Amino acid sequence: MKKYAIITLLALLLPLCACNEQKNEQKNNPDMETTAKNDFMTLAAGRYSVRHFASKPVEQEKIDLILEAGKLAPTAVNSQPQMIYVLRSEDAMAKANQVSPCMYGAPQAFLFCYDDNRVCRRGPNDNYGDIDVTIVLTHMMLEAYNLGLGTCPVGAFNADEACRLFELPENIHPILMMPFGYPAPAAKPSESHTKYRKMDEMVEYK
Ligand SMILES: Cc1cc2nc3c(=O)[nH]c(=O)nc-3n(C[C@H](O)[C@H](O)[C@H](O)COP(=O)(O)O)c2cc1C
Repeated sequence: MKKYAIITLLALLLPLCACNEQKNEQKNNPDMETTAKNDFMTLAAGRYSVRHFASKPVEQEKIDLILEAGKLAPTAVNSQPQMIYVLRSEDAMAKANQVSPCMYGAPQAFLFCYDDNRVCRRGPNDNYGDIDVTIVLTHMMLEAYNLGLGTCPVGAFNADEACRLFELPENIHPILMMPFGYPAPAAKPSESHTKYRKMDEMVEYK
């Protein structure tokens, strides 16, 4: 009986010790933290606006992960006003190409909107809808790149025409579109991709 009690106690304590060891290892090894930060920087620097897509459709599991990344995005007062349309039928993509010249041959695209019934107000005539939706898009854009896919955020589209063609309810406001998919072999970053303003022009410490 006593033997069983000792074995049970050891079984309970061992994982705790292993967990603490791991935490101490992380605390004592600054390189571990650096690695994590660099992974994000690699992702952020490697992503570029893809303007030439292959015809291969994106698998449902990848679309699910991209949408999940969007779900995790912060929104004002956690209002989560985003409404995301996944355009991938022939009919939907024909309409997408009608409302924007920037689908770049992608076999699918997202249409990002906010729901006026859910959005957090910002004074009498404004709300956080476009900001919320842009953060959602950013999460999804980076997860798509993380999965080996290309994206291009698109502001150049006719929102009224999108409302009409996609028969959106009155409370749904289109903000951005984003073709996504496998980059075609010819896809490459534009020249402006690596043109950055100097840090001291855009940042000021007060
Ligand atoms: C809000 C927003 C709207 C954009 N609209 C368009 C667009 O309509 N068409 C397009 O080809 N690219 C569009 N872009 C992509 C930018 O041109 C691109 O991000 C920028 O030139 C930097 O290049 P990079 O994304 O390759 O780093 C948009 C980007 C943002 C953030």
